Amino acid sequence: MAELHYHGHATFTLVADDGVRIVIDPWFDENPSTEIGVDDVDGVDYVLCTHGHSDHFADAVPLAIRTGATLVSSFEIAKFAQEKGVEGVHPLSIGGGFTFPFGYVKMTPALHGTAVDGSEGRVSAMPGGFWIDLGGKRLYHAGDTALTTDMELLRGRVDVALLPIGDNFTMGPEDAARAVNLIDPGVVIPMHYDTFDVIRQDPERFRELVGPSARVEILRPGDTHAF
Ligand code: NI
Ligand code: MN
Repeated sequence: MAELHYHGHATFTLVADDGVRIVIDPWFDENPSTEIGVDDVDGVDYVLCTHGHSDHFADAVPLAIRTGATLVSSFEIAKFAQEKGVEGVHPLSIGGGFTFPFGYVKMTPALHGTAVDGSEGRVSAMPGGFWIDLGGKRLYHAGDTALTTDMELLRGRVDVALLPIGDNFTMGPEDAARAVNLIDPGVVIPMHYDTFDVIRQDPERFRELVGPSARVEILRPGDTHAF
């Protein structure tokens, strides 16, 4: 069984069948919705970052340095992390994937902002999402994105979809429900909502908008979805 632990906002820990631990979009210490601090996170093998905004990237460099995890992100962010002292990085570009020991990871397009939040704040990098194939169990973390028709290219290839529903900075519930219709995943888990006032949403309304086309699993920070 693979396990997906939700830490609030867009931060997840994915534990593969073989026990490999993958943290996606690590944002713990400043994350108002998470249940743990970054120092509580141990035994990490990989850190995946969809893009460089602080609510997805703030704890990536310290976490990778402390745990020795390999940081996987866009070429520009991987290079940025390397310059900040991360020894193990694996750069990808949009549309490209790589077979890691735990499975295949491909960076998917996301329509969103490009800044990387370092102290200099001058780096820009293409935002993305991740399509992860753990030996036939396929997970899609959309990152921060608008609704795009590109999502239809994932149709029939996603078992669990993590979609932002917060609106304002990403898709809102209506567009995320339309994304579900394009992707047709087995299970959809809403994310990137309720963290700040401008992205307050009722996930039950999202469930109603999705209707019978997919099973909506509403996770609270600290909850786990096994698949
Ligand atoms: Ni963002
Ligand atoms: Mn965000």
